[in-house]
Amino acid sequence: YGTQDISKNGHLTIGGVDTVDLAKVYGTPLFVYDIDLIRKRARGFIDTFRKLGVNAEVAYASKAFSCIAIYQLAAEEHLSLDVVSGGELYTAIKSGFPAERIHFHGNNKSVAELELAFDTKIGCIVVDNFYEIELLKQISETKQQPMRILLRVTPGVEAHTHDFITTGQADSKFGFDLNNGQADEAFKKVANHPYLQLLGLHCHIGSQIFETDGFSLAAGKLMKKISDWKEEHQFECTVLNLGGGFGIRYTNEDQPLEPQIYVEEMIKTVLENVQAYKLSMPEIWIEPGRSLVGDAGTSIYTVGSQKEVPNVRQYIAVDGGMSDNIRPALYDAKYEAVIANKANEQRDFTYTVAGKLCESGDKLIVDAALQNAESGDLLAIFCTGAYGYSMASNYNRIPRPAVVFVESGEHQLVIQRESYEDLVQNDLPFTLNKVSVK
Ligand code: LLP
Repeated sequence: YGTQDISKNGHLTIGGVDTVDLAKVYGTPLFVYDIDLIRKRARGFIDTFRKLGVNAEVAYASKAFSCIAIYQLAAEEHLSLDVVSGGELYTAIKSGFPAERIHFHGNNKSVAELELAFDTKIGCIVVDNFYEIELLKQISETKQQPMRILLRVTPGVEAHTHDFITTGQADSKFGFDLNNGQADEAFKKVANHPYLQLLGLHCHIGSQIFETDGFSLAAGKLMKKISDWKEEHQFECTVLNLGGGFGIRYTNEDQPLEPQIYVEEMIKTVLENVQAYKLSMPEIWIEPGRSLVGDAGTSIYTVGSQKEVPNVRQYIAVDGGMSDNIRPALYDAKYEAVIANKANEQRDFTYTVAGKLCESGDKLIVDAALQNAESGDLLAIFCTGAYGYSMASNYNRIPRPAVVFVESGEHQLVIQRESYEDLVQNDLPFTLNKVSVK
C-alpha cells in the first residue's frame, strides 16, 4: 500500500519511517497514516474531474476519520468536507477549514447543530427530512440568513460490494423517497423560500462498492427528477451530489476499480442525461471517505500472550482490539497483517489475532498467514485508516490509541494517546443519598 516498504533489517516502513521506531517513540497500539497516499487519492479524484472539464467538489466524508490534522490536510488538498454532526463541524471549524467548503449531513440534526451551521456560515446543508425543512425555515428566518441546501433523496438503488438492488421504495432512514412523491413535496416546500437556496439533489447508495452500475443507475434517476422539475417548475438544479462509497482493497478478495473509473462512469451517465433531457451540465459533487483514507492507515500493535487450542488454532493476542477497530466484530470485516519487525521472513505460521477485550468475538483476524510471532513482536494490520479510529470506543476502559502522520521520512503525532486521567475526566463522584456507615 502506498509508500510501504521493508527496510534492510526487515522492518516495515511507511513514508520512509521505520514502524519499529514509531512504536518505540509513540507506543502501541498506534495508527500510522501515510500522508503521501492520502494526497495521491485526493488528487486522483480532483484531477479526473479537471481532465473531463467538469466542475466538481470532492468532499472528504470525514466520518471515516476525523481530527484537526486530517481536516487541515484536506483543506491543503483542496477537498471540501462532509460533516455529519456538531462534533465534526466543531472540529472542522477549529482546524481552520474554510467554512464555505463544508457540507452538513445527517438524518436528525438538532436545532443547536443547525444553528452552529448558520453561525459558522458553512457552504451547504444536505436536507434529509420534512422536520428539518421546518427547522431550517425557522432558523433562517429568525437569523435572516441565507443557506444553500441540497435535498437528499433515496433513489431506490442500494449497492453492496458487487451487487445492487433496485426497489420502487427504499427502506432507508435517510432522505426523501424519489419514487413516491416525497422528493416532489420537499421541493415545493423549499422552492421560492427567501433564505433557503436549493442547489440540487444528493444521494448515497452504499459503501465499499466495487461496480459502477449502481452509481450510473442512481445518477440517471436523479437526472430524470432534475428534468421533471425543469419542465414542471422551470427550476434547474445546478448541483448533483452522488455521495461516496468507492471500494478499497482490504484483502485479495477485494477487487476495487481505480477511483477515477467510478467518476468517469458517473459523468458519462450524467452527460447522456444532460443531452437527452436538454439540461445544463450540473456541478458534480462526490463524498469519498474510505477511498481517501482507508488504505493510508495502518494499525501497529504489540503481541503479548499466546494460546494454543490444540488441532484447532493458535491465538496471538495484541494490546488493542475491538476498542480501536470494531469492524471485524461488527461487520465480519477482513484484514491482512504482517509482523512489522520480521516483515522479510516467510509467512509460515497461521495465527488468529485476538484483541485484549473481554469478549470472545474480539478477534481482529481469523487465520492470518504470518511470520513466526513471539511476545514483544509488532503486528501491523493494514487498511485501518477508515472507520477504525473514528469508531473507536473506551469499552473496557481502554484508552484510545495515538495517531501519527508520516511523510517523506518524517513523523508527527496528530492525536495523543488517551491517558487514564482522560478516561475519568468526565466522571463525578457518587453523592446521592449517601448512607453513612456507623
Ligand atoms: N456520504 C454519505 C451520505 C455517507 O453516508 C457515507 C458513509 C459517505 C458519504 C462515505 O462513504 P465511503 O466513501 O466512506 O464508503 N462504518 C462502516 C461504513 C459506514 C458508511 C456510512 N456512510 C464501515 O466501517 O464499513
